[in-house]
Amino acid sequence: MKKGMVRKLKIAVIGIGYVGITTAVSLGELGHQVVGADMDDTKIKQLKSGILPIYEPHVETVIRKLLREESLHFTTSIKEAVERAEIVFITVGTPPLADGRPNMKHIGDVATEIGRHIREYSIIVNKSTVPVGTTDDVQSIIADQLKLREVNVPFDVVSNPEFLQEGRALQNARKPDRIIIGCSSPAAAEIMLQLYEKVDAPKQITSPRNAEMIKYASNAFLATKITLMNEIARLCDRLAVDVSEVAKGLGMDKRIGPHFLQAGIGYGGSCFPKDISALVMMGREAQIEMSILEGVQEVNQLQTDWFLDKVKQQMGDLYGKRITLFGFAFKPDTDDIREAPSLKIIVGLLNEGAIISGFDPAVNKKITEMFPSVTVIEDAYQAAKEADAVVICTEWDEIINLDWRKIKGLMKGNFIFDGRNVLDWRMLQQEGLRYWGVGRNMNT
Ligand SMILES: NC(=O)c1ccc[n+]([C@@H]2O[C@H](COP(=O)([O-])OP(=O)(O)OC[C@H]3O[C@@H](n4cnc5c(N)ncnc54)[C@H](O)[C@@H]3O)[C@@H](O)[C@H]2O)c1
Repeated sequence: MKKGMVRKLKIAVIGIGYVGITTAVSLGELGHQVVGADMDDTKIKQLKSGILPIYEPHVETVIRKLLREESLHFTTSIKEAVERAEIVFITVGTPPLADGRPNMKHIGDVATEIGRHIREYSIIVNKSTVPVGTTDDVQSIIADQLKLREVNVPFDVVSNPEFLQEGRALQNARKPDRIIIGCSSPAAAEIMLQLYEKVDAPKQITSPRNAEMIKYASNAFLATKITLMNEIARLCDRLAVDVSEVAKGLGMDKRIGPHFLQAGIGYGGSCFPKDISALVMMGREAQIEMSILEGVQEVNQLQTDWFLDKVKQQMGDLYGKRITLFGFAFKPDTDDIREAPSLKIIVGLLNEGAIISGFDPAVNKKITEMFPSVTVIEDAYQAAKEADAVVICTEWDEIINLDWRKIKGLMKGNFIFDGRNVLDWRMLQQEGLRYWGVGRNMNT
């Protein structure tokens, strides 16, 4: 093969959620032949006709292109996907169990299916976030199935953790900060390097256990960074300091960097809360106290409570007050509301007897299904009509760039609680709105 030319590899991706679809699409873009498999029939039907079942910018356009070029297919049959693949990606969910450990059922089910159906040498690549040692477990499950089949099919299992950010998933996949390949077979490592040859990113070949820990440690670090700023924001609030100015000053230190320093109502999403719990549980099982991360969990919970207290202190009795939430998604540019801070805010306000309406550019039905008493309106201005207060829960551009004079004109009251510290408080105050952020002192 000539240098610069990429061998077209046959890939299966099992579990077509946020990570699976991004993996399938980005590998298709790299020139590989990809089959995406999921047990969700509705999702696969939509994907086959070029419809993306989730909100993720730019992905749908690429799906349609790859479907037309016949380099991407979808199926509900893992057998069909696995039989023809040289590389099988596992991208199923690992949601938290009640005790905080990840539920490994889907990983086990998929590994079993892979063991039932691989025919020739295959590389099994796990992208789901899983506890240290899972690569070995997947290896054993597949080996057991091959024994049952009384066949000797060689295979390798690789850990290749995913670091995408929802809302920027394709961008992240096209130009990741790094690619981690946790692999004990040099032959498999070589093929993994070929797979990602065209991706311009540093690549680290390491052991599967190291790779599994790199993923958890990354999320633990980011969640801790956010949480530290949130704790500092509460102190800023008490001491009449503006945390936004503090973050700006801090972020210029190259050892710290400017990202993940914005104070707010706490982290959420499908990854940070569950991955921090998983790491704490891993520590517990290994008899290593994870006191920093336990503190992070506690402070993150307190942050939303603190914000709700702020709303109550300013507005008094919330019973019968009309409160409009702007943003439900756990962050902008996604429709994901798993563990979104907005959900805790809704519960807190409903418990106080407030009447809630809201707007989010990508989330609608999921909220009304969860909270039938919440009215979700597809127009932000209509949602703010007659409101006593507006609470910003997600920093969508569509929300930041609203015409706040118009909002003021539509509201009954004039309270703005900015849970993401994204609005220009001077401008809002000029419009006669009463602004409250998170640790943002307006006199300094
Ligand atoms: N979402 C993110 O931003 C992100 C980022 C990095 C890592 N991760 C990790 O990647 C993994 C997947 O996350 P996600 O957000 O894409 O999950 P998801 O819930 O969006 O998607 C999982 C998919 O797997 C499918 N599935 C489950 N069991 C299956 C089976 N037995 N056979 C076929 N399909 C099956 C489900 O139907 C679903 O479509 C998790 O471990 C997560 O922690 C997620």
